[in-house]
Amino acid sequence: MTLFEGRGVSVRYGAVEALTEVDIELEPGVVHGVIGPNGAGKSTFIDALSGRTKVSGGQVWFQGADITARSPGWRRHRGVARSFQRTSVFPSMTVRAQLEMVARRQGESDLDGVIEALGLGLVLDTVCGEIAYGTQRSVDLALALIGDPKVVLLDEPCAGLVADESVRMLAHLRELCQQRGVAALLVEHDVDGVFRTCDRITVLNLGQVLASGAPADVRADPAVVRAYLGSAA
Ligand SMILES: Nc1ncnc2c1ncn2[C@@H]1O[C@H](COP(=O)(O)OP(=O)(O)O)[C@@H](O)[C@H]1O
Ligand SMILES: [Mg+2]
Repeated sequence: MTLFEGRGVSVRYGAVEALTEVDIELEPGVVHGVIGPNGAGKSTFIDALSGRTKVSGGQVWFQGADITARSPGWRRHRGVARSFQRTSVFPSMTVRAQLEMVARRQGESDLDGVIEALGLGLVLDTVCGEIAYGTQRSVDLALALIGDPKVVLLDEPCAGLVADESVRMLAHLRELCQQRGVAALLVEHDVDGVFRTCDRITVLNLGQVLASGAPADVRADPAVVRAYLGSAA
């Protein structure tokens, strides 16, 4: 069942077309990875789906309705959450204060569940600027998961993490999405992590879909191997 859909999404920045008619379908409990080289349009795609950037063509559908014209706040409130490529924690707030602020706004009733799922119990009273970078990324992910979202759009949640932190984070994410039936779009630089974590994968290149499907099919797709994975695949 498709819960959230981008249909022919295009985005222009002035004369540059950053995205050209990109389709995606997200389903509950399914992690859908989006990979592609730097500048492929991955962050632009998340901005377009979350409503931060206006589309120049195409539509965004959620729960059977066209939400293309809706604001980011409207989408977030109804269950379409996102995270950013760079950490967006407030350095001077404690982890607890930061989480509680978003929990109040989103009407979260089980903040403890989110805290436990991401292993943040021990750092609650520490100021965000003083926790390790990897823990900041867990706080970023927690902020997106507050309010029991139905869809999460995650822009490189593992950026800057060392390998074992990245593995742990993606395992947490996968488990949470499956348990809660969340539809996830995961943009990630770590291609191995995406192939390990995701049920479906879309490859973007120069703002267009190069391939989309099950991980094994995408990995074997000649266009993907040629343009992106190369001999390392
Ligand atoms: N605000 C912007 N204004 C102009 N061009 C932009 C803007 N944001 C991104 N771009 C351009 O759009 C293309 C896609 O960028 P981006 O979505 O950030 O790619 P990715 O996240 O895959 O690295 C790039 O060519 C980038 O330079
Ligand atoms: Mg990006």
